[in-house]
Amino acid sequence: MMEKISSLAKRRGFIYPDSEIYGGYQGFWDYGPLGVELKNNIKRQWWKSMVYNREDIVGMDTSIIMNPVVWEKSGHLKAFTDPMVECRECHKRFKEEDKKSHEHDDWTEPKIFNLLTEVLLGTTEPKEKAYLRGEITQGVFTNFENVVASSRVKIPFGIAQIGKAFRNEITPGNFTFRSREFEQMELEYFVKPDEAESKKIFENWKEQRINWYESLGMTAKKLRFQDHKDKEKAHYAKYATDIQYEAPFGWSEFEGIHHRGDFDLKNHGLSYLDQETQEKYIPWVIETSGGVDRATLFFLIDAYYEDGERVILKLHPKLAPIKVAVFPLLSNKPDLVKKAKWLFGKLKIAIPPVAWDDRGNIGKRYFSQDEIGTPWCVTVDFQTLEDETVTIRDRDTAKQERVGIDKLNEWFSAKLNDPTSE
Ligand code: GAP
Repeated sequence: MMEKISSLAKRRGFIYPDSEIYGGYQGFWDYGPLGVELKNNIKRQWWKSMVYNREDIVGMDTSIIMNPVVWEKSGHLKAFTDPMVECRECHKRFKEEDKKSHEHDDWTEPKIFNLLTEVLLGTTEPKEKAYLRGEITQGVFTNFENVVASSRVKIPFGIAQIGKAFRNEITPGNFTFRSREFEQMELEYFVKPDEAESKKIFENWKEQRINWYESLGMTAKKLRFQDHKDKEKAHYAKYATDIQYEAPFGWSEFEGIHHRGDFDLKNHGLSYLDQETQEKYIPWVIETSGGVDRATLFFLIDAYYEDGERVILKLHPKLAPIKVAVFPLLSNKPDLVKKAKWLFGKLKIAIPPVAWDDRGNIGKRYFSQDEIGTPWCVTVDFQTLEDETVTIRDRDTAKQERVGIDKLNEWFSAKLNDPTSE
């Protein structure tokens, strides 16, 4: 299954190995023309549900490289680690938990390995050592007081962010699942320090997040929560739950919901003053931290269907990289081609991106669009020239419907703006 997905991803322009002409680079991937659309759609939907649809959440975009003191205060320099072991036979290094995937069984004692990626800055020697952020979160915490002072937020409120994070993973693998450069979509939700209330908010975010994946088409029975046991918890977490997907390589985490307590704000020496009560306190943080690349991979896997020779990506229309494909029934009839081109131009503005295809026969064009998840194909035929109607063919049912050209915008908008998936 993973081979089918990675080969489709490469062949149709979703995901390519990074620096492939030089043999690739382990743990790095590039998104192609369709991949960037899919990934952007996931991020757009997330932003809509987290920021635009709410009154208590604002957005941010913070720096990838921060003052190195941040990583000392956040505990990452000390505790952002994995135990690493080396195979005595082939000298390959593994994360200790991945030992079982290896053919030999003669290991060195585990060594603690820090996952932060170092960078050297400046022009004078010795250069200054800084780090690429290991989680996008810290920029939100260090700006906590800026956001409170410059916007009208009041506790409880949240700050949402999407951006790249970097981890010097010992064993990148399972396609994009464990990479060294990846994107996160995170919410830090600040609440009053109160056990019962914060637990309620934590439970509520768990439900909202799993529902969001389901509302965008992910199969409910392939999703589950997995609570962290004490020894699995990140150094900042009071308690934590993963959202897992049943991937071909087993149940795998792709979003973490963490109760971070006052760990971060306290370590950075930050607090909050309630303007009404004049009460000063350190808020607690409930975090939802999703991986954009893992979500992209799992949406792809979940959407993949085979029907004989045919491959269909049953992506939710809101996520589909191309919304509509427009075809002239025959490519050697100038009247049909002209009308179809005109319609293509109109739809491209109304519901982008739209694909054009006039190669081969209609069957092959459907086949090609199904494989990349295009929900609808519009065909301009001889009847169109007489009565200004076209056929819309549905990807999942293969049924065709005749619709007036003047009704198309309305028809597609109704499907794409369905409020149950926001
Ligand atoms: N701020 C909290 C945090 O970073 P995390 O559980 O370490 O929590 C959150 O990471 C999410 O980031 C994970 O659920 C996963 O989706 C994504 N992620 C983490 N490491 C990754 C990696 N090496 N490759 C791809 N995605 C990764």
